[in-house]
Amino acid sequence: MKRPFYVTTPIYYISGNPHIGHAYTTAVADVLARAARTEGEAFFLTGTDEHGQKVANAAAAAGKSPQDWCDALVPRWQELFAAFHISYDDFIRTTQPRHERVVQRVFERLRESGDIYLGTYEGWYCIEDETFWLEAKLVDGKCPTCGRTVTWLSENDWFFRLSAYRDRLLEYYRSNPNWLRPKSVYNEMLSLLEEGLDDFSISRTNFDWGIEIPGGGGVIYVWFDALLNYISALDYGTPGAPFERFWPASVQLIGKEIARFHTIVWPAVLWALGEKAPELVFAHGWITVDGRKMGKSMGNATDPFALAERFGADTLRYFLLREAPFGSDFSYSEEKIIARNNDDLGNDLGNLVRRSLAMLTKYCDGVVPSAGEPFIGAALEQIPNRVADAIFDLRFREALEAIWQVVTALNRSIDERKPWELWKRRDDPAAKASLDALMYELCEGLRWLASLLAPFMPEKAAEIARQLGLAEGDHERELRSLRWGALAAGTRSAPGAVLFARIEVAEPSSA
Ligand code: MSP
Repeated sequence: MKRPFYVTTPIYYISGNPHIGHAYTTAVADVLARAARTEGEAFFLTGTDEHGQKVANAAAAAGKSPQDWCDALVPRWQELFAAFHISYDDFIRTTQPRHERVVQRVFERLRESGDIYLGTYEGWYCIEDETFWLEAKLVDGKCPTCGRTVTWLSENDWFFRLSAYRDRLLEYYRSNPNWLRPKSVYNEMLSLLEEGLDDFSISRTNFDWGIEIPGGGGVIYVWFDALLNYISALDYGTPGAPFERFWPASVQLIGKEIARFHTIVWPAVLWALGEKAPELVFAHGWITVDGRKMGKSMGNATDPFALAERFGADTLRYFLLREAPFGSDFSYSEEKIIARNNDDLGNDLGNLVRRSLAMLTKYCDGVVPSAGEPFIGAALEQIPNRVADAIFDLRFREALEAIWQVVTALNRSIDERKPWELWKRRDDPAAKASLDALMYELCEGLRWLASLLAPFMPEKAAEIARQLGLAEGDHERELRSLRWGALAAGTRSAPGAVLFARIEVAEPSSA
């Protein structure tokens, strides 16, 4: 039996409002989950990372308790995901008791096994940056990033014995070169491992917004707490829990800046628990603005709600997945989004749907005729497999390019076979048969497109299916299994609104 598919996103810091970068990773996970559901059981997890100094500071600045702050912001994130048609199965919050319970249980277990021990953390500490520095890194005895005076700190901390897992990590990397993608991140992490690993402090005593260490002595470091969300959501540790079916994760999606936690610390924690590492971690690139990572602290973040309003969520999803090979950085600009909307989506796809259904109305009273000889379909046979393979291999741009071969083939057959001329000769039975065969294939092509596009553009795909006259939800059930010729003759279409309205480039204001 096929293993269920489990896909995760990072859990997002809830220190402020979401931006398009957060929608990006989550939309990618959504494409995978929707595609996986056509083949079997899937589970898609996202959520919010609510502990730690950063969130506590944001709450304090707003004059709220951290819990009130988080409770007020979580709906904003859930609204974002709804606006982007995200079909998550579970949304985890690290302040939920179901998560805290697992984190404390794991902490206790690893303390018993000796993987967590009490040690002394000593070093030069920059309070401003909340960072320890090696003596060698100091500049004139001061913090190398902010130039402030550093203080010698010595505190008793709980450590995770990461260094003990270095050999196993090296071995794992070498024998599973595809477990971490893309290659650039794999190479970077491998060289970190080769340099050596220190144990990892996992307790904090200088603030209290976190999960309490069992038995007291501070709170658990936010990263140790956060990583465990991927298994606490599966009720790890309870006999018969979903964990037993869904773990190891099929794909864990992250941005490349958090690769070290996910591909060095995380597998080691899992191994310490006697569990498997995830099957694949994919550390994708950044959306950049003028060459810099888009982010809240960079001050260049765009409001994803305003973008969805202006361009439509599906156009944005298409842009994000089509613009660059998955893994690479890519720059965001409104001109590029508009070009994708007007060209690929409006001219190629939208027009195809509009003119096919208009001809069906005129030539066949809006009803799908019987199939004839398959001219178009024969050349497209391999497309569903190619699209599915590309999606599950996280080559989304290639998947979309393959889907566009269907769009192009259909448009070309209209231009070449000129149905309006066949219509003029409709009294000739051969011309009428040829017209019907073409109209059938155009409709069948639209059915395929509704299915192939459903993971990427759920709303527009459903609209294509609706206008074509398919039963609700049918188009979401197929991807790899699509066969040419399954559309039922007699299907009654219901042409409707234009799929992708043209967007005009905003005129620079003269004021
Ligand atoms: N809370 C941690 C993750 C813990 S996971 C156990 C965190 N949160 S975050 O809010 O900073 O979100 C980081 C993630 O958001 C990135 O890893 C990436 O998935 C996404 N992105 C944030 N900004 C982005 C871009 N500019 N471009 C692409 N993805 C972006 O780190």
